[in-house]
Amino acid sequence: MDAAEVFWALHGDLPREGVGSDATTRTLLGLAAPLPPSPRALDVGCGPGRASLVLAGAGARVTAVDLHEPFLRRTRAAASAAGLPVAVVRASMTALPHPDGAFDLLWCEGAAYLMGVDRALREWRRLLRPDGVLVLTDAVWTTAGPSEEARGFWAAYPGMRDEAALVTAARAAGYDVLATHLLPDGDWTDEYHGPLAAAVDAWPDPDAATAAVLAEVRREVEVRRAHRDEFGYLALVLRRR
Ligand SMILES: C[S@@+](CC[C@H](N)C(=O)[O-])C[C@H]1O[C@@H](n2cnc3c(N)ncnc32)[C@H](O)[C@@H]1O
Repeated sequence: MDAAEVFWALHGDLPREGVGSDATTRTLLGLAAPLPPSPRALDVGCGPGRASLVLAGAGARVTAVDLHEPFLRRTRAAASAAGLPVAVVRASMTALPHPDGAFDLLWCEGAAYLMGVDRALREWRRLLRPDGVLVLTDAVWTTAGPSEEARGFWAAYPGMRDEAALVTAARAAGYDVLATHLLPDGDWTDEYHGPLAAAVDAWPDPDAATAAVLAEVRREVEVRRAHRDEFGYLALVLRRR
């Protein structure tokens, strides 16, 4: 198996594809209030669709976009099983095919970094009606002096900032900051690192190449466990100026 196949074998069935929880999605939706009744919402990089389901369950008219077909299928199936109207669309976050002002609410849990948060802030703003709300989460430093191990791990995300710098970037991109919210530790473990570590441990008899990928994933989980006071996941709740 190549590294990509191992990645998808580990990730394909996780409850969610990043740090978060339904409870946090609900908290953030509360922080985005007031919104119009049945707000038009776009979930960007929806993954298996957990945020889309929570938003739709709260009455939003949700469009969910992602590029990965299996996630789109999972989102569609979960929405249908729950009887919730979620429009599932294959589209890239860098070329969203919706007209200006089409949404009251833009949502993006743990995916904006893929195109760069500053670019996402800039390019997605047009999709919101004036006073529309953008909620996104991103990894942040929570200490001024992270350990060498934590810095080494996050070298893969050289643009990672702290809360103050993210807030400054959001304001400069044309948003007012309604709230920030550091995701609780359980949002890392309960539905993401926990099941991911279990999938790694359950891998039967890995070959050398697979074992190397599994070791990388173990390291990801272990770095978080050992250094959880040094970095976190921050939600920004922003209103388009
Ligand atoms: C870290 S996951 C987060 C998924 C989901 N929001 C969650 O929290 O479970 C990032 C998601 O972005 C999707 N993705 C990657 N590149 C993309 C792109 N250019 N446009 C849209 N989605 C993309 C991936 O398929 C994946 O579902």
